[in-house]
Amino acid sequence: MSDTFEKTREEILKLKEERKAIILAHNYQRDEVQDIADFVGDSLELSRTAASVDCKVIVFCGVHFMAESASILSPDKTVLLSELYAMCPMAAMVEVDFPRDVQTTFTGYAVQPTFVFPHEFTLRHMKAKYPGVPVVAYVNTTAAVKAESDICCTSANVVKVVESLSGDRVICIPDKNLSMWAAKNTSKQVIAWDGFCHVHDRVVKDDIFKARKEHPNALLMAHPECRIEVLELADHVTSTSGMLRFAKSSDAKEFIVGTEIGIMHRLKKENPGKVFYPLRKDMVCPNMKKTTLNSVLRELKEMKNVIKVPEEIRVPAKRALDRMLEIK
Ligand code: 13P
Ligand code: SF4
Repeated sequence: MSDTFEKTREEILKLKEERKAIILAHNYQRDEVQDIADFVGDSLELSRTAASVDCKVIVFCGVHFMAESASILSPDKTVLLSELYAMCPMAAMVEVDFPRDVQTTFTGYAVQPTFVFPHEFTLRHMKAKYPGVPVVAYVNTTAAVKAESDICCTSANVVKVVESLSGDRVICIPDKNLSMWAAKNTSKQVIAWDGFCHVHDRVVKDDIFKARKEHPNALLMAHPECRIEVLELADHVTSTSGMLRFAKSSDAKEFIVGTEIGIMHRLKKENPGKVFYPLRKDMVCPNMKKTTLNSVLRELKEMKNVIKVPEEIRVPAKRALDRMLEIK
């Protein structure tokens, strides 16, 4: 480790103490960011930790919606996002309603008889098309979208969440792949939004055939944000932390890893006798990689990237998150 690297680490640890701060990092963060964090986990674990951790300040190393969830669950803490423009593109694929300028355009178009506006264009349109059907929002959504939804889910609990709802239909937003996975593993009819994660959706069946040929003794783990035809070929489909548990408890010695490559750090660190191969080397989330040790240090010094969800959104969004967290 270089001297400057070590110096930055020391400064972070000192400031963290002074600020009574806790650093939370997602499993996709850079290796050195994971190593400085107090807690590293998947979306569900990070939500639970944010809700229970005893501190004044949370420095969140992840993407925007994750820091929003921390703020929703812990309104009395100062929640800082290590990089303000670290966003999840999939979360941006659902809007609650049109922005005002688009609404004006919409009214204009609507008078033209040939124009049919897709009902699924906004969440409110979709809800109007399927009245009374509960909305399950993946945590990879904005706080405003959560506030407009009945319950949240993560990749770790989507099946349990969907099964917990009464009625035979559910709306799942925004990930069409996760929705198809839920449809396959529950008795519900799932009405899916047309969103996707660009990191996972790029995996195709040929990637699986190629990886299996190269590593015939390895078990293949895939994240449910991958396409259904990919998931059907996997040995185990689970969240990022689910992969860590699976690799630890399995007798197998080799694994092909079908998710963002940041998870490789913990997989290797926690399983020294085992070997891990990325399913594709380009499964890299650029937004997750925006955070560096310097971002963490800067935030601890300046405390500028405060994520605070307004009460009128926080309260209904918390209801949807709490409902999810109650499911064991
Ligand atoms: P996990 O819930 O498995 O941590 O995944 C979050 C995410 O953003 C996946 O792309
Ligand atoms: Fe969003 Fe995909 Fe990045 Fe996860 S990996 S934060 S879903 S873009």
